[in-house]
Amino acid sequence: MITLIKVRDYDEASDKAFEVMKEYLKPGKVLGLATGSTPLGLYARMVFDHEENGTSYQEIRSFNLDEYVGLPITHPESYYAFMHRNLFDHIDIKEENAHVPSGLGEDLEGQARAYDEMIDETPVDIQLLGIGSDGHIAFNEPGTPFDSGTHVTDLAESTIKDNCRFFDNDISKVPTQAVTQGIGTIMKAKHILLIATGANKAKAVKDMLEGPVDEVCPASILQRHEDVTVIVDEAAAALLDK
Ligand code: PGA
Repeated sequence: MITLIKVRDYDEASDKAFEVMKEYLKPGKVLGLATGSTPLGLYARMVFDHEENGTSYQEIRSFNLDEYVGLPITHPESYYAFMHRNLFDHIDIKEENAHVPSGLGEDLEGQARAYDEMIDETPVDIQLLGIGSDGHIAFNEPGTPFDSGTHVTDLAESTIKDNCRFFDNDISKVPTQAVTQGIGTIMKAKHILLIATGANKAKAVKDMLEGPVDEVCPASILQRHEDVTVIVDEAAAALLDK
């Protein structure tokens, strides 16, 4: 079941997302985390809450959704670096408990299977998601099987263009592959929190919520999950029927 929450803008979406997330900032909980522009406001609120209220992450574990293939973790646009810069370095989560898939090494598919096994042993309580303008969740581009596990994937042309802004607007610098949790992996999370803001997400939001459940729009599978919260701002909600 999807609970839809409509808010005015990005700041309100981040406030609302923090309200939902706060319930999970407790010892023993497992967070599924995401990168991109969408979660930055939420992460800023989590850092503030840690600093002001002393909310501790010592007993919290996390699993990130994805990582570019071939970028060293020291590269500022690696998702490992992103997570440290925007969240992990500012809270007290233990390094060994904050998992980001590795996009480096000889046996990426083997590492991907090991990542799924860890998630199976440590089920995610709340999975944070953004949505791509093409309806992707994590790097599960249109056409990805709904039952996929963590795997190596090629980025869609539209995703490479969307992410160009992080690579000096130079398309040749954007990695073309990523390791991503599969749709099947994501669907195992007990609660899913998806945030979508901005006009470039409006079509994907409509397809996700009002379209058929179809691999053409990977996010449409969320209609089949039992506990999803979707937070949309006015611009992202603009094409919705209701
Ligand atoms: P964004 O990306 O948060 O940078 O818009 C979302 C996504 O591609 O999943």
